[in-house]
Amino acid sequence: MSARRGHSLSSQTCGHFPCSSRSHQPLPFPPAGIPEFLKTKKEIGLSACSRAHLDFRWRFCLFESVVAIGKFVDDLSAIPEKEFTHLSVLDFLRRNRVDLASLSPYLYFSRDHYTRNLIQRTPLFDLLAICWEPGQQSPIHNHCNQNCWMAMACGRVQVHNFKLIQKDPATGFCDLESSTHYLIDAGNPQEVDPGEPIHRVANPRSFMSRAVTLHVYSKPYDTCEVYDLKEKRYQEVQLVNTTEYGVVKSDTRLEKAAVEALM
Ligand SMILES: [Fe+2]
Repeated sequence: MSARRGHSLSSQTCGHFPCSSRSHQPLPFPPAGIPEFLKTKKEIGLSACSRAHLDFRWRFCLFESVVAIGKFVDDLSAIPEKEFTHLSVLDFLRRNRVDLASLSPYLYFSRDHYTRNLIQRTPLFDLLAICWEPGQQSPIHNHCNQNCWMAMACGRVQVHNFKLIQKDPATGFCDLESSTHYLIDAGNPQEVDPGEPIHRVANPRSFMSRAVTLHVYSKPYDTCEVYDLKEKRYQEVQLVNTTEYGVVKSDTRLEKAAVEALM
């Protein structure tokens, strides 16, 4: 039976490469413990056979592996520029979850502000770990034609998108409208919507835990546009890293978190 046929839960032959056995019993599907948001994924509708095949299939949906940040950086850096696309980087984040312990050199928190911790800068991308205390949030901002992907190293954050109604570069006037919200957690990396790139990231106090996000920005940039919803003003601001390659660059009072305390 071809790998393209037999994708029926009632079939005694799974037809899923490399299986051609008729001895596998169908399993309940979707399997227990699969996060709700993944149950709608197209891949689920293929076939049900052995546990091994479920694992084979779920590798397309769930993280394939947990990797140390060094390997993550090496593998991300190995993606050629022409393949550094919206989907391929998102797929990379979905398949490579970073081992929190390996992020130890970058886990700085401040009570005053979220911290930006540069892990790697190449001509193609910046990789940062951003550490959030409960209750901290970014300003409403736009990365201005630069792509941005986000994954969680621990905790979860909320992203709030805004629709641009109008802006006037001559006067700094802007008018925004609240748009969509979504959650980023360990199983759900996301990309900033290129069609609606103005957003705010928050670790609400109600989440009651610290959060660490990993951000891939391409290409590297040192400024972004920040919007004041109330005043209807916007301006370009310089981005400042709290630490770079594990070295503190800020005068802010920092706490270096123990990995164990974040787990
Ligand atoms: Fe952002």
